[in-house]
Amino acid sequence: MNNRLESLMSNIELGPDEIYSSIENTDFAQSTEIKLREKVASQHYDDYLSAIANSHSVTVMDYEVERFLSKLPQNALILDVGGCWGWHWRNLAEKRPDVSVVIIDFVKTNFIHAKNVLGDLVGKQVTLMHADATNLPFKIEDKFLGFDGVWTVQTFQHIPDFPKAVSEAHRVLIKGGYFANYSLHITPFNRFVYMCFGKKFHIKGEVTGSYFLERANNTQLGIISNFFGAENTEDRFTESLFHPDLKLGFTGRVNSKFGIVDIWLSKIPFFGRIFARQRVFLAKKSKY
Ligand SMILES: C[S@@+](CC[C@H](N)C(=O)[O-])C[C@H]1O[C@@H](n2cnc3c(N)ncnc32)[C@H](O)[C@@H]1O
Repeated sequence: MNNRLESLMSNIELGPDEIYSSIENTDFAQSTEIKLREKVASQHYDDYLSAIANSHSVTVMDYEVERFLSKLPQNALILDVGGCWGWHWRNLAEKRPDVSVVIIDFVKTNFIHAKNVLGDLVGKQVTLMHADATNLPFKIEDKFLGFDGVWTVQTFQHIPDFPKAVSEAHRVLIKGGYFANYSLHITPFNRFVYMCFGKKFHIKGEVTGSYFLERANNTQLGIISNFFGAENTEDRFTESLFHPDLKLGFTGRVNSKFGIVDIWLSKIPFFGRIFARQRVFLAKKSKY
């Protein structure tokens, strides 16, 4: 294990199942969500990437991972908050053999699938940890300790205390480190898609029996800007063609041609503002 990571994890216990654990309190504001996620994780999946393509464009997110990795220095440490099955890192050995990733999730059962998806990477480049995003177990006693990147996809949108989660991400980053947060976006087109299928378009609140959901918005952008500085915070859009609610799941498959066009569309903000399914806040922690 990377020396820096060893120091960061020195107070955290490794279980016989190769999973680090730091959760003692199970009285979560997100207890309904935990039940739902446990149910999803208890199922069997023959083809993980096809299952994932029902909720994410694998091609677009593979590009986003590479984009994020390209910003990080040699031997970088990344924290993936709410990393679930860990699929974003499945090509890490090939793309960046120098980088280490700690995946945290508050549903331990997800890590059974992460081990299947990541194989040999677990215990080498990837560390799995049962932990809560709003109470990260890393003690940062030295300004040179900490993560070079905090990556989180469609997780902070489910955390009712968004400012606390951002404050924790900011705390564990080293100076000059990057924070990337992907959440569902509010656009007239997305509302229209939901209307066509007779579904309620939740903007902020409890989705009965499932989870809390707060779509990306300018208040969140303001909170991130307060921690990182407005001049260090970028607002982007992805997944303009990928709309699983339209039952076009094939558009999200690995190396889908739609995904490749989608990557290009993410470079045109005007298009993203109208059609994109995801909004991305990318922020850099000030060096001073
Ligand atoms: C919508 S899934 C996204 C999973 C993954 N990031 C991806 O892109 O496929 C949200 C994940 O975040 C986890 N999660 C939600 N709130 C969390 C919290 N407060 N602490 C840790 N994990 C959390 C859930 O268990 C779930 O695995």
